[in-house]
Amino acid sequence: MANEAKEMLGDVFTPSPEIVANATVKSFEEMTRLADKDLQTFWGARAEEFEWFKKWDKVLDDSNKPFYKWFVGGQVNIAYNCLDRHVKTWRRNKLALIWEGENGDLRTFSYHALNREVCKFANVLKSMGVKKGDRVTIYMGRVPELPIAMLACAKIGAVHSVVYGGFSVEALHGRIEDSQSSVVITCDGSYMNGKIVELKKIVDEALKRAATVEHVIVYKRTGHEVYMEQGRDYWYHELVALPIARAIGNNRCDTEVMDAEDPLFLLYTSGTTGKPKAILHTHGGYMVGIATTLQWVFDLKEEDRWWCSADPGWITGHSYIVYAPLLLGATSFMYEGAPTYPYPNRWWSMIEKYGVTVFYTAPTAIRGLMRFGEAWPNRHDLSSLRLLGTVGEPINPEAWKWYHRVIGKQRCPIMDTWWQTETGMFMITPLPVVNLKPGSATRPFPGIEAEVLDETGKPVKPGEEGFLVLKRPWPAMLRTIYGDPDRYVNQYWSKYPGVYFTGDSARKDEDGYFWIIGRVDDVIKVSGYRLGTAEIESALVSHPAVAEAAAIGLPHEVKGQAIHAYVLLKQGREPSDALIEDLRQHVGHEMGPIAKPEKITIVDKLPKTRSGKIMRRVLKARAQGLPEGDITTLEE
Ligand code: PRX
Repeated sequence: MANEAKEMLGDVFTPSPEIVANATVKSFEEMTRLADKDLQTFWGARAEEFEWFKKWDKVLDDSNKPFYKWFVGGQVNIAYNCLDRHVKTWRRNKLALIWEGENGDLRTFSYHALNREVCKFANVLKSMGVKKGDRVTIYMGRVPELPIAMLACAKIGAVHSVVYGGFSVEALHGRIEDSQSSVVITCDGSYMNGKIVELKKIVDEALKRAATVEHVIVYKRTGHEVYMEQGRDYWYHELVALPIARAIGNNRCDTEVMDAEDPLFLLYTSGTTGKPKAILHTHGGYMVGIATTLQWVFDLKEEDRWWCSADPGWITGHSYIVYAPLLLGATSFMYEGAPTYPYPNRWWSMIEKYGVTVFYTAPTAIRGLMRFGEAWPNRHDLSSLRLLGTVGEPINPEAWKWYHRVIGKQRCPIMDTWWQTETGMFMITPLPVVNLKPGSATRPFPGIEAEVLDETGKPVKPGEEGFLVLKRPWPAMLRTIYGDPDRYVNQYWSKYPGVYFTGDSARKDEDGYFWIIGRVDDVIKVSGYRLGTAEIESALVSHPAVAEAAAIGLPHEVKGQAIHAYVLLKQGREPSDALIEDLRQHVGHEMGPIAKPEKITIVDKLPKTRSGKIMRRVLKARAQGLPEGDITTLEE
């Protein structure tokens, strides 16, 4: 029955009648029509689902483009809608979070318990002098205290800046410095692949280079010995046990009243050139956008168990591990460690153990686990699953079909969601009722208008490649680049005036389905992680032996793309295998293990334009044996 229900027409998968019958949104077309008719009424109705301290005067203010404002005049707090709103109801006793450590530790939090922990930690932050608008850097492993810290910041109106725990010294330092954080929250260490990642040590080294930090709060996860600086470093567990954490009533802490447009968080992401940019998201519009998309795309029901396997340190984790599931009052599962630890069945065993119903992951993870064969997932009962999802890079049809057949047993539609740190929420994505084509993220979410343009700004013909743009504002959109509004305008709104430029290339087919091809700027996607060539190059150049460096992304079977670097040595430095290995380690130390180049080649010359710009495009073509294209600007 299950197999018959899923009709396969060529490469089109149609949803089963069961899926359609259960879906919250029965007609994609109808919702799109409604949103197109009146965008403000459409998003206004979605915002009504939440508790506002004061209702908005206007849904969208576009009087100062591209600095759009949403729910202007409204007062709200996203953390209030994630926690306070639920603990007033029966959901107080519902599980908000189930967490498994890599070593098998298990912790669960009801909405009541999660709220209590958030209140305690919010009181701690307040007692340290953290106020509305202050920036707090969070650099932790994947432990429940990471979402707790984020929510505690949101609750008191502080702006969190989470730095992925796989980043290292220079990446962390740059982000602390740029955000001018006064407090850093970290762990002694985190577990990954059975080893300890020395988070506190990395913080200590980063802080030698940063002057703004007054306090460091350290959550004890591994228990191994770490350096604690007197007067600066405090243990998390000691602070939350202090009377001050419980001072106000029954673990209470009042939730700050925020304007809808007040900042919620900064999240650094890599761009075309220079240092990473701090993408700024706000309380009101972000809340409405992420909750609506999660509810409609993954159709979350009260009885579901949702698992988004991303790291909370990336936008996927911010939106769809921490905030949106809590906004919907859902039960989320979170796992600390590596998917293959101790064996390649770890993920599948946890889907079985916790009865996960909706599972959202990245193509690179699927390709990585596919390599170990079907026997690993087949050892487990995966029948609780009803919907699957992917994000982060294009999914090759082979991986799509494996995921669909082996994990979803041909019953579970796959929601391939295209979006970005900047968009905050899913933008091009199916809903469960939509026909699927493996490898296509299908069509824009209701209210979103996407297009593929040529260099001159004209829409390309179906099937032709062009630049992917978004033509209308949406509530969870970034508001600016923190501290650099000019860069916000130049980067996103200048290639085609008035239109948001995504940095991706894509094709649209005859049915209006979008096929994302990849980045057109100097961003490399390694295992779905977004890295800038400029950051990798500057890490290489900070090594005493290196004069110049160029980094490019080349196709890789599992990672999607892998980093290849070309290095010009300083005079008097001799190339050797030991030096190449040293350079790889150096990039790992400065940026993090994910940024270590796959291959480093020592060269005596880099292809440059006459004005001295490295032509990465030429390096890329040469490495792949492809035509070099237009090289008229190449210097002699
Ligand atoms: O190139 C697109 C790719 O990831 C980029 C955004 O990266 P980041 O800001 O790190 O956010 C990743 C998680 C939302 C996009 O510009 N990308 C993301 N999702 C997809 C994708 N490419 C193809 N298909 C997707 N579903």
